[in-house]
Amino acid sequence: MKDGFGREIDYLRISVTDKCNLRCKYCMPQNGVDNIPHGDVLSLEELYRVVRIMEPLGIKKLRFTGGEPLVRKNLAKLIGDVNSIPGIEDIAMTTNGVLLRENLDALARAGLRRVNISLDTCDRQTFERITGYDGLERVMNAIYAASEAGMQVKLNCVPCRELNGDGIDALAQLARDKRLDVRFIELMPIGCGRSFHGIASEEILAGLKAKHGPCKEAPCERRGETARYYLFDGFLGRIGFISPMSHKFCSDCNRVRLTVEGRLKLCLHYNDGIELKPLLRGGKSDEEIRERILAAVRRKPQAHAFSEHDGSNADKRKMVQIGG
Ligand code: 5AD
Ligand code: SF4
Repeated sequence: MKDGFGREIDYLRISVTDKCNLRCKYCMPQNGVDNIPHGDVLSLEELYRVVRIMEPLGIKKLRFTGGEPLVRKNLAKLIGDVNSIPGIEDIAMTTNGVLLRENLDALARAGLRRVNISLDTCDRQTFERITGYDGLERVMNAIYAASEAGMQVKLNCVPCRELNGDGIDALAQLARDKRLDVRFIELMPIGCGRSFHGIASEEILAGLKAKHGPCKEAPCERRGETARYYLFDGFLGRIGFISPMSHKFCSDCNRVRLTVEGRLKLCLHYNDGIELKPLLRGGKSDEEIRERILAAVRRKPQAHAFSEHDGSNADKRKMVQIGG
């Protein structure tokens, strides 16, 4: 499946819920987001069907996101089901880690091999200040358990001047001491993110070099990789940077996103997409839905425009509703 700019689309991000058990200040409004009526959320069976429909179009990689994906019941069952579709080669999840430990065995058995765990700080009080929950220890335990269970673990930190800017090195040191990657993501001006000041990747990298000495750029692992990775001497894991603001990676974009309400979104930034729910529920055949998806993907925008002022087509929702 190619878009109008010749980019091969093989990666589907599936948001399974817009609910989250944390309230990270730069992501989630403090009193939550409006509840989506239960009937408007795609069922697990519908999600499975979307993957079955899209796999023959060339989708090979899936990522489950939220909100917080683990608040969705029976997610491991869905992962097991999609894992048995032959063309699906890679299944990952982005989670805040709060419910990971108790779900780890079931997820691993279902075929989950890779987890990205959001961790903005290693300081207990700062964690509570950012997320509204005194859960650092719980998340750290989940991180170590996932790593020990042989999952590939990446930690995602969004540096913000107002929140966690002084704790960057402590996070980076987790990649020194454990075989896991620590990635720093530039804050995007989406929803609550607009009220905070992100820290550019260059500044973080310069600080780490000053502390840990020079580093080498690591080879790119896969097409559409959004992170650039660096190797520091004496570190077991890598330091990564996802820099949507300072280094746009849109030209290699290989992804589309499914929202919790069943809209196939073509770009994180824009509203444009195709509503799959009415097609799924309206008796359309898999083949008809495939045709519609192909046509929509051809309209995928060339790049995000977060740095431009014209926000007229921008998605006005919060990050927690889009799925990151
Ligand atoms: N910019 C960048 N990343 C964000 N996240 C949430 N909001 C933003 C934003 N405005 C990240 C979280 C988490 C993932 C789900 O998305 O930190 O790692
Ligand atoms: Fe929840 Fe993740 Fe948003 Fe924090 S960043 S509120 S954990 S969705």
